[in-house]
Amino acid sequence: MTDTALIVVAAGSGTRLGRGVPKAFAEIAGATILEHALRGLAAVDAAFVIVVPAGHEADASAIAERAGLVATVVAGGEARADSVAAGLAAAGDARWVLVHDAARALAPAALVERVIAALRDGAGAVVPVLPVVDTIREADAAGLGAIVDRAALRAMQTPQGFEAALLRRAYETAGDARGASTDDAQLVQAVGEQVVPVAGDELAFKITTPADAERAESLLARKEPGMREVADIRTGIGVDVHGFGGEGPLRLAGIEWEGVGLVGHSDGDAVCHAIVDALLGAAGLGDIGGLVGVDDPQHAGAHGEVFVRAAVALLAEHGWAPVNVSVQVLGVRPRIGTRREEAQAVLTAMLGAPVSVSGTTTDGLGAIGRGEGVQAIATALIRRRPTPVAE
Ligand code: CTP
Ligand code: MG
Repeated sequence: MTDTALIVVAAGSGTRLGRGVPKAFAEIAGATILEHALRGLAAVDAAFVIVVPAGHEADASAIAERAGLVATVVAGGEARADSVAAGLAAAGDARWVLVHDAARALAPAALVERVIAALRDGAGAVVPVLPVVDTIREADAAGLGAIVDRAALRAMQTPQGFEAALLRRAYETAGDARGASTDDAQLVQAVGEQVVPVAGDELAFKITTPADAERAESLLARKEPGMREVADIRTGIGVDVHGFGGEGPLRLAGIEWEGVGLVGHSDGDAVCHAIVDALLGAAGLGDIGGLVGVDDPQHAGAHGEVFVRAAVALLAEHGWAPVNVSVQVLGVRPRIGTRREEAQAVLTAMLGAPVSVSGTTTDGLGAIGRGEGVQAIATALIRRRPTPVAE
C-alpha cells in the first residue's frame, strides 16, 4: 500500500493553447498531453488521481490504461484550485500528496523523486523552483514601471508535495478565497507553514501557448523512439511441441511438407501455436488454451492460421499490434532451411508483421533429437496501437 497520492490536474480548458479541446486532451507528437504526462509518471509509486473536465472521465481512464497505470478519475471545477480540491477529496488517506499539472507533460521522473525525497526528509510542503531568466518589469495601465530584481524571483513548478493533512487544512482555511490561487504552496504559506524549495527542471515547463506545444513536440521527437515508446512495448514467449504420427499431412510454419504429419487436435502446427502463445503472453491475455477453445470439435484439424489470426484480433481489441516475431524450430525434420523464405512469407502475411524462422537439431539428444516430434519456441514483440480498435 503506497503512502503517497499523486493528483494530476487536467481539468483546464486550454484557452491560451487554443486547440478547441480541453488542453490535456490536445495531441502533441501522436498522443494527448495527458498521456505524455502520465507516461512520464507511470513508474512513481503512488495512488493516481486524475482530475478532468466533467464528461471526459471515461476518456481519461482509457488514456491512463494506455500509459500503464490504474487511476481514480474525478471531475474538476471552475478554477485550478477547485480541481485540486476535487482531487484531494478523492485522494484517500495517503500520508503525502503530490499535486501536478498535466500541462507539465515532460516533467522528468527525477524531479518527482526529488520532491518525494524532501517530503520523506521531513518537509511539510515542497515546491520545485527555477530562477527567472527574463528581465521583469512591473506594468500597469499607465505603462511600464520599475524593473524587478530577478535575482530575488523564482518561478514555481509542479509537482508540489505536501503532507496531506497540511494541504487539506490550507484548503479549508482558504475557503472560497482559494479560487484565486494557482499555487498550492502559497495556500500552505498562508496558514503559516514553511514551504521548502527544491531545484525545478526546465523540462517541467508548462505547455500553455502554441509555441510551448511546438517545443514539447520537438523535444518528444528528439528522444530515441525506442526510449520514448518503451512503456508501450512488451515481449512474450511461447513454446509448443507435437509428436509425429498424425493422420493428416505435415503442416508446420503455415505450410505443408512431405512426410508423416503431427499429432494434435488441430493440425499440430507447433510453430503457429508457439507464435500464438508468444503474442498472448506479451499482451497478458493468457494462452492458446483460453483463446478460441482449441478443444472445440469445430477446430478439429484447424490450420494454425485460424489461431494466429484469432490471437492478432484479440490483441487488436485490447489495443496491441505485433511488431515482429522470431521462431526457432527444434527437430530432425522437416529441414526448415530448405523452405525458410516461403514459411516466413506465409507467417508474415498471417501476422501482418515480420516473422523470421530458424531451425536447429538437438544433436540427437532427447525425444526431439530422435525425431519423435518437433518443438517450436517463439518470441514476440508487440506495441500499443496508436488508437485502440473499437469493440
Ligand atoms: N486546471 C484544472 N482545472 C481548472 C483549471 C486548470 O485542473 N479549472 C489544470 C490544467 O488542466 C493544467 C493546470 O491546471 O494542467 C495548469 O493550468 P493552465 O496551464 O492554466 O491550464 P488551462 O487552464 O487549461 O489553460 P488556459 O488558462 O490557457 O485556459
Ligand atoms: Mg488556466
